[in-house]
Amino acid sequence: MASGIAANAQAAPSGEAGYQQNCSACHMAEGQGISGAFPALAGNSLVAGNADDVLRVVFNGRGGMPAFGNELPRETLAAIVSYIREHFNATPTRLTADDIAAVKVVTTARMARED
Ligand code: HEC
Repeated sequence: MASGIAANAQAAPSGEAGYQQNCSACHMAEGQGISGAFPALAGNSLVAGNADDVLRVVFNGRGGMPAFGNELPRETLAAIVSYIREHFNATPTRLTADDIAAVKVVTTARMARED
């Protein structure tokens, strides 16, 4: 058993585990959110839509949501966003750490423009 857990820890980061650890306190275990406080991520058109938009929210935070761009490794962010699109919105997604890096570049460029 102990060796099984160690083997899992070596594998690519799990989007499900990352979600449950970092997001489910607010968005709830099944992505249902809490009405009036935390938006549902299940059946959510933003989450199912343009992946860059989802990455930007998770990376930079928004309103009452904390920013995760400097909190989690790129691989974990990619896995979590893929998970919430696939598992909660039936939108097959395979984001990579490179996709996260691209969002970081775009964000910096936008901030430099001050719009
Ligand atoms: C401390 C509570 C909290 C945590 C933790 C949190 N969120 Fe959020 N999240 C929010 C709130 C509040 C909003 C709404 C922000 C707003 O009104 O602009 C939000 C909005 C979002 C949105 C946009 C939804 C929409 O319909 O526009 C996404 C996507 C999202 N969160 C994903 C995540 C992911 C992925 C994680 C974990 C990495 C996470 N959140 C962790 C509170 C949280």
